Amino acid sequence: MTRTAGRVALVTGASSGIGAATARLLAERGMRVVVNYLRSDQAAKQVVADIEAAGGQGMAVQADVRETAAVHAMTEQVRAAWGGVEVLVHNALTPYAIKSFQDMTWDELGGKLDDELRAAFTVTKAVLPAMTEQRRGRLIYLGTGLSRQPRAGMIALGTAKAALAQFARYLAQELGPQGITVNVVEPGPVTETRISKALDDEQRNRQIAATPLGRLAVPSDVAKAVAFYASDDNAFMTGTTAAVNGGLAMY
Ligand SMILES: NC(=O)c1ccc[n+]([C@@H]2O[C@H](COP(=O)([O-])OP(=O)(O)OC[C@H]3O[C@@H](n4cnc5c(N)ncnc54)[C@H](OP(=O)(O)O)[C@@H]3O)[C@@H](O)[C@H]2O)c1
Repeated sequence: MTRTAGRVALVTGASSGIGAATARLLAERGMRVVVNYLRSDQAAKQVVADIEAAGGQGMAVQADVRETAAVHAMTEQVRAAWGGVEVLVHNALTPYAIKSFQDMTWDELGGKLDDELRAAFTVTKAVLPAMTEQRRGRLIYLGTGLSRQPRAGMIALGTAKAALAQFARYLAQELGPQGITVNVVEPGPVTETRISKALDDEQRNRQIAATPLGRLAVPSDVAKAVAFYASDDNAFMTGTTAAVNGGLAMY
């Protein structure tokens, strides 16, 4: 057993893709994992069933991470069952428009900025009291390499995630004295996720050719970086960003 055994981890958007892989891995490492989701009830229950079949503990909880009341109801349900959340992995992916700036309306760009930051703000506010009380906590946010390196059509997501990354650095500065680390994991393109299904073979092959490690990421590659930040192996890193992209972009 590691020292993380029994810790309560909340993974938002864990019914699919990177969130589901992260939930499974944290459970494998001995944490009790809350599998948050919005609509995919069956998929979330399947993630919990997989966790339990592997000998771990999981709990599926529906909540829209943009809704304060729903997020508070979720953390109250967790607190009653398992106690306060000690590890937050904020991974949920709210919808966004894929189009050029010239075709984009303010409602599309502003709406994504609002959703992205509102969700991060709301889940962070909800888990923070238990962390500050324990003087220990792990906050991990899923960003994207698109927040640094623009790609056609991705201005709404890239801009919103750049704001999220800076939000995380401000939290790292403020919360460090309370024993809370705050870090961002920024993947490049990840297969076996919903958005990856939009890539055609030519786009996929172009990305693989540009990646020194010679393949695209799979969700478990990203989950391993998250698990590092969630664990005691991360003793002294806060305010940092891990790029999980096989060398596609180096910064
Ligand atoms: N896929 C990539 O190539 C890639 C690359 C870089 C970064 N990322 C980042 O990694 C994270 C995960 O991406 P992914 O591609 O694995 O996602 P995904 O497969 O599209 O899954 C999205 C998850 O978010 C949940 N969700 C959406 N809106 C929500 C809401 N309002 N409240 C609660 N949950 C909500 C979905 O739940 P339901 O299914 O229940 O609705 C689902 O579990 C995102 O932050 C994304 O920006 C992904």
